[in-house]
Amino acid sequence: MLIVANWKCNPINTKKVNHLLEIEEGNQDTEVVICPPFLYLSQAKEKLRNKDIKLGAQDSFWEDSGSYTGEVSPLMLSNLGCEYVIIGHSERRKYFEEDSNIIKQKVEKALENDLKVILCVGETEEEKKKEKTFTVLKKQIKGIKKKVIIAYEPLWAIGSGNNCNPDQAEKAVAFIKKEIDTKVLYGGSVNVKNASSYLNKDIDGLLIGRTSLKPDQFSTIIKKVKSEKQD
Ligand code: PGA
Repeated sequence: MLIVANWKCNPINTKKVNHLLEIEEGNQDTEVVICPPFLYLSQAKEKLRNKDIKLGAQDSFWEDSGSYTGEVSPLMLSNLGCEYVIIGHSERRKYFEEDSNIIKQKVEKALENDLKVILCVGETEEEKKKEKTFTVLKKQIKGIKKKVIIAYEPLWAIGSGNNCNPDQAEKAVAFIKKEIDTKVLYGGSVNVKNASSYLNKDIDGLLIGRTSLKPDQFSTIIKKVKSEKQD
């Protein structure tokens, strides 16, 4: 199982970073990945030095270096010791207008730099109502290679407290797996109460936003995964 923390644009200063990193580590069956903002990656690396917790970024650019003010490249990330990168999160698609072309370029460059890519896909509430989930997913993963990990994150479930029914999530995950032979995670309002319901499904892990900002609760989920699920 792969358990990924997406801190998004939090916390607002470095003092809280170490506190957020006081968490249960992974083991041979459970990989734990923390994705803090770029600014805190070095601090996190230092703090996690002796722990079985991997480092990831929340995004990366489509070039290795050059005149691209404000960007962070996958080469920089891998040089820093980052192993994972989230690409195509719905918030990036929504607020930064990242389209499938941009996302594809970012995925390619990250893979070239040996980063493990977690590509986020998922339908909106409206698409769900119109029963277009599978059509949307198919489009979002078109041309994506096996090496990429997919996170199924229905947009209506992200940050809403309205997590996707586990059976429904499993169906979407199964659809993705049929299209591309890879690991598929679920994300969207995962918390201590509902995390277990995804563990007995054919789902390879969880991408966790809000609850990853509560180290005790995030640790509880990791402990559950470690005790309930062994690959
Ligand atoms: P959430 O976020 O757990 O707060 O819903 C998940 C995500 O956006 O990756």
